Amino acid sequence: MNDRSVSIPALQAKGLCKTYPNGTRALIDVDLEIDGSALVVILGPSGAGKSTFLRCINRLVTPTGGELCLHGENLVHVGGRDLRRIRARVGMIFQQFNLVKRLSVLENVLAGRLAHRHGLLQRGLSLTRIFPRDERDLAFECLRKVHIEHLALQRADTLSGGQQQRVAIARTLAQEPELILADEPVASLDPASAEVVMNNLEEIHQTQGIPVMVNLHQIDLGKKYGRRIIGMNSGRICFDGPPEDLNDLQLQTIYGHELDSGLGRATPRKQDRDEDQEPARLEPALAAAD
Ligand SMILES: Nc1ncnc2c1ncn2[C@@H]1O[C@H](COP(=O)(O)OP(=O)(O)O)[C@@H](O)[C@H]1O
Ligand SMILES: [Mg+2]
Repeated sequence: MNDRSVSIPALQAKGLCKTYPNGTRALIDVDLEIDGSALVVILGPSGAGKSTFLRCINRLVTPTGGELCLHGENLVHVGGRDLRRIRARVGMIFQQFNLVKRLSVLENVLAGRLAHRHGLLQRGLSLTRIFPRDERDLAFECLRKVHIEHLALQRADTLSGGQQQRVAIARTLAQEPELILADEPVASLDPASAEVVMNNLEEIHQTQGIPVMVNLHQIDLGKKYGRRIIGMNSGRICFDGPPEDLNDLQLQTIYGHELDSGLGRATPRKQDRDEDQEPARLEPALAAAD
């Protein structure tokens, strides 16, 4: 570990605010430091601001107030080339995987390298031809880290949902990110596949030391995998601690009435799943800001 990572948190939010143009206050004065020592799970009911927070970090959403620093560099006001450079440092995993269905698994993983090769992609050119041998080796290595290297040459749309999400994780790893964000990564998966994907994220965090932040709707999964739980409600952080401190009172504070109706333990409702859907694209880290 170098001096920079010892003294400066991987991520620091100070008084972070996001008010959408329609007046919705999705984040209100959020203060948070992430040092990467624990896998962070953000729990909260639908509409709490979980996705908005992660999207501010890779600047899919532009904060409207406060500070947000990645290894000390303020992300709030950067634009253009600096914004692309910052996005390349932050890996993002979405609920709907966002793979390019007609491409092979390996090509999808290579797409993660585009964050470092902006402007190279041309329509119709095979990604495996654009990228030199060492980058293809890196992509294979990333597939090995999620234990699906044997699927490298298969078309992405022939894979199960769980396998597709593991390809998305490998694609993010190929980006060599300083921070990995996952927004409801298992909400579309069956329970067994969800565990495999969460295990992948945990293993990556532990073996590679990359800070990982995961938005989850399911309390049980959050408590199992999160070593630090952030509870959000109505745009504010209302809990920050280890899972063993998350008692019924704390859960009530986070989930309010949703807890009584069992929503906090359930798979997100259909409308929650759809609102996070992103179109498939080759440059997930280079998406336009709002
Ligand atoms: N693009 C948007 N425009 C207006 N309001 C939005 C937009 N995206 C999210 N919101 C609102 O911001 C609040 C937080 O949403 P979100 O961050 O998606 O919460 P969560 O991920 O916890 O469900 C909600 O009230 C939601 O309706
Ligand atoms: Mg969300």
